Amino acid sequence: MEMDQLVALCKRRGFLFQSSEIYGGLNGFWDYGPMGVELKRNVREAWWHDMLTAHNELTVAPGAPATYEMTGLDSTIIMHPQIWKCSGHYDLFHDFMVDCRESKHRYRHDQIRGRWVEAKGQRVFVSTEASGDEAQEDLQQKALKFFNLRAKHAEELGWQDAIVNLTTVADFAAVLGPDAKTLGTLTEPREFNLMFKTYVGALSGEEGTAFLRPETAQGIFVNFKNVVDSTRVRVPFGIAQIGKSFRNEITPRNFTFRSREFEQMEIEFFCRPDTSRQWYQYWRDRRYKWYLDLGLAGERLRLRDHAAEELSHYSCGTADIEYAFPFLAQGDFGELEGIAHRGDFDLRSHMEGKLVKQGNELVVETDADGKPRHRGSGKDLSYFDDQTRERFVPHVIEPSAGADRATLAFLCEAYAEDEAPDENGKAAKRVVLRLHPRLAPIKVAIFPLVKKDGMPEIAQEIYRELKRELNVFYDEKGAVGRRYRRQDEIGTPFCITIDGQTLTDGTVTIRDRDSLKQWRSKKEECLAEIRERLRGG
Ligand code: GAP
Repeated sequence: MEMDQLVALCKRRGFLFQSSEIYGGLNGFWDYGPMGVELKRNVREAWWHDMLTAHNELTVAPGAPATYEMTGLDSTIIMHPQIWKCSGHYDLFHDFMVDCRESKHRYRHDQIRGRWVEAKGQRVFVSTEASGDEAQEDLQQKALKFFNLRAKHAEELGWQDAIVNLTTVADFAAVLGPDAKTLGTLTEPREFNLMFKTYVGALSGEEGTAFLRPETAQGIFVNFKNVVDSTRVRVPFGIAQIGKSFRNEITPRNFTFRSREFEQMEIEFFCRPDTSRQWYQYWRDRRYKWYLDLGLAGERLRLRDHAAEELSHYSCGTADIEYAFPFLAQGDFGELEGIAHRGDFDLRSHMEGKLVKQGNELVVETDADGKPRHRGSGKDLSYFDDQTRERFVPHVIEPSAGADRATLAFLCEAYAEDEAPDENGKAAKRVVLRLHPRLAPIKVAIFPLVKKDGMPEIAQEIYRELKRELNVFYDEKGAVGRRYRRQDEIGTPFCITIDGQTLTDGTVTIRDRDSLKQWRSKKEECLAEIRERLRGG
């Protein structure tokens, strides 16, 4: 599937629109249309249901070291600015950007790749934003143009070494920017903090400065004590939260994959330090299985453990769940979710102040006067286990998912083209979203074959009954074949048609989106049958 086809379908059928489109759009921001909002709600609800409401704390879940409890939270987007200082986001949450003085484009330093090439006595680092197979093709075109060579003289290009990242290049004067015609137009990399700044109240100076949260996680850590004190949860337990996060990404791209406003679904799971590795293993596998169960195919979904050098300074282990999005080069995967073993870094940071690693220890970072660089809350966030009579700072396992990336992956996976009979019964190309029924925006569409003979009345009766329980859609306009196609394109798993036979024997036709099979069922039994099939029966 080409990404353009999915993007076009999303616009045509009301899944996703560019934000502020009538004003020319705003890069990195996306609106979910009537179908998209239902799909994303279903993704969030599936996550909340499976992780939290359906979790049984009385039974050991498969693969878990013990029973555990789960609870939820909804914290604010704007929080005390000190939170971001202690968490490390204020000092460390930045990317490096480079600007092109010629094209006026801005790039993330680590996203530009290139290759050294020599021709006509000059050595140049030609660069591109493309990856995979496309990268060398693009570099070749750029080099030919720069050296003013025809394609038939491509052998005059003396390529050196392999494609490398711009981060390995020191001599910017020899760099040909991805969209430049002349050399040396890229600026030196500059740090760029990704947090959006705002002002609280009437104060507009440093005093009133606050940030839109770049992750929902910190809202959970700073409420750890409130949750323990106000509920009867006992370690091990998890706090789940779904909410908007904001990052002023330098180069938002690939549809909703990298946006500036997006939604996260995060769990902070608190456990005893001596069991944390087992819990890390459990959550890593549990979360991977969640995507598989909702229809992402095994060959496009992978669980990748980070190498030691990729780990944050406090992390004892991190794994990413990644999906082979169609906009990536062959063999490349994009992150859907990270599962991190965070030790006691977060709770200690909010007690003591911003921590840094010294040898194997985490210690409070100090300024030139030996005072904490960013002071913590001073509140005791340790946990007292009244059964073992021990006090400790729990370790944290963090499964952190993106609702928009998951939604995009489900859309990519679901998009298919096949053949189905058109309104005249002839085989014709069909676009279909094979979404898991739990995720489908509309579960059932109900059609009277024609707008007469009492068919609309029967159809509306069935519609009323199903509507009480399910998101169903009634449509009596146009040829029935065309009505089926519209539902296929938005992923509706079942269509019910009321036809001439319904008037005589009270049965209706049910059509399955994927197999295209049709069968008859008594109209009084429709709801029970659909309910059963949606449950996978
Ligand atoms: N609390 C940990 C944390 O925020 P992260 O890897 O930075 O970790 C977690 O983000 C998830 O949030 C990612 O796996 C991704 O699904 C989603 N995410 C992060 N940045 C995003 C962006 N700019 N646009 C869309 N989703 C994003």
